[in-house]
Amino acid sequence: MIEHIVMRDQDVPNIADFGVYMRHGGYEALRRAFTAMTPAEVVALVKDAGLRGRGGAGFPTGVKWGFLPQGVFPRYLLCNCDESEPGTFNNHQIIDRNPHQLIEGVAISAYAIECHTAYIYARGEFATAARTLEHAVQQAYAAGFLGKNILGTGYDLDIHVHRGAGAYICGEETALMESLEGKIGQPRLKPPFPAVAGLYGKPTIINNVETLANVPRILEKGVEWYRSFGTEKSPGTKVFSLSGHVNRPGNYEIPFGLPLHDLIYSPEYGGGMKNDRPVKIVIPGGASAPWLTGEQLDVTLDYEALAKAGTMLGSGAVIVLNDTVSAPHLAYKMDEFFKHESCGKCTPCREGTYFLTKVLHRMTEEALARPEDIGTLKDVYTQMAGNCFCLLGESAVMPIKSALRLFPHEFDELIARGKPKTGLISIDLQPMKRDMSPV
Ligand SMILES: Cc1cc2nc3c(=O)[nH]c(=O)nc-3n(C[C@H](O)[C@H](O)[C@H](O)COP(=O)(O)O)c2cc1C
Ligand code: SF4
Repeated sequence: MIEHIVMRDQDVPNIADFGVYMRHGGYEALRRAFTAMTPAEVVALVKDAGLRGRGGAGFPTGVKWGFLPQGVFPRYLLCNCDESEPGTFNNHQIIDRNPHQLIEGVAISAYAIECHTAYIYARGEFATAARTLEHAVQQAYAAGFLGKNILGTGYDLDIHVHRGAGAYICGEETALMESLEGKIGQPRLKPPFPAVAGLYGKPTIINNVETLANVPRILEKGVEWYRSFGTEKSPGTKVFSLSGHVNRPGNYEIPFGLPLHDLIYSPEYGGGMKNDRPVKIVIPGGASAPWLTGEQLDVTLDYEALAKAGTMLGSGAVIVLNDTVSAPHLAYKMDEFFKHESCGKCTPCREGTYFLTKVLHRMTEEALARPEDIGTLKDVYTQMAGNCFCLLGESAVMPIKSALRLFPHEFDELIARGKPKTGLISIDLQPMKRDMSPV
């Protein structure tokens, strides 16, 4: 049985309750940080542990914190809980099961970067999760772990929970800040980077839920323990959201470096493929990641190995699809998502996603594929790549590029037969997200 870091207490009955959390060592890491460590010492610890951001880029968290300009205040910490990448549902579970662990992580991280106001930005549809967080925040205030003069140290901290309106682009850090400021959620030009000029023009750190949920554990158990998990360059564990045609979809916390094959086939994780059908496509890091094929299951799940294999770990959403799936139709469905979520600010993304989906819809759903369509698709995504204002547009290129590179014959077949091959997509990419009502 592999030891867990982020999900360690998730099976403790009622761990979301403040009293139960306290009986399991809750807020001890915060107490230690606030009373026995300087902010710089906390930053150094997180840096030495090698914690990498789980929001997509895998950027070292302690290094990011170190980018804040000296002596410029106020500063802000934003916890990114927009979690809208298709196939990603681990942040939701972390909050749902153990909200105090996240709040403790946010508070310690705020202390480390010397900020006094932190926001948790929750995806609009996460009504229950936001309410769970708000309740837990109130309990932390009542116990004296938030508010003025925390534990008599003179340190003040407020945490606010803010719900977005359900736009994927608001997970992008600068769009998130625009949204938080009450503006339209569209990305800002970078530089300046948020660490220099972020929320309200002040130095700001944005970190993902899972990233911050690691922080109390690192303080509690130390650098050596943390580094005993994972690989040298990708230390620790990752909560992978496994979905698609596997027998046991769900969130699985495993040390970085486990082979993809084990995540899919091990009885304690994916439990193999439904009806024993072969793996055709794996999208290892959410819809934005280039695809792998069933021949690449030996690749290990860490930032370096996946990059070497031509893809990325991204949000850790592993979508596994069997041989009934049509690659052109999968590309169409993925690009429909990007078209829908394009914020419309820049032309290559706004127009490019529109044209990609228009052509793909005609080729797949209308069964009217033409030989010149391949050239049109390549032309459009070539003009998009490298020319979009933010990474959403760049990501929209990945599905169609992957499909054309790995399964060109399926496009040829569409053209030859003039109708879709088989396997329209009907899988549940987010099996854990059940409270989607925007109440
Ligand atoms: C279109 C788009 C959507 C994103 N959505 C999320 C998201 O839902 N959650 C998240 O943590 N990061 C998301 N990111 C990445 C954030 O911009 C940012 O890099 C991240 O929150 C930093 O946290 P980390 O350092 O802990 O990884 C998104 C990026 C892009 C381009
Ligand atoms: S790339 Fe797309 S999402 Fe990003 S700014 Fe341009 S239009 Fe908006």
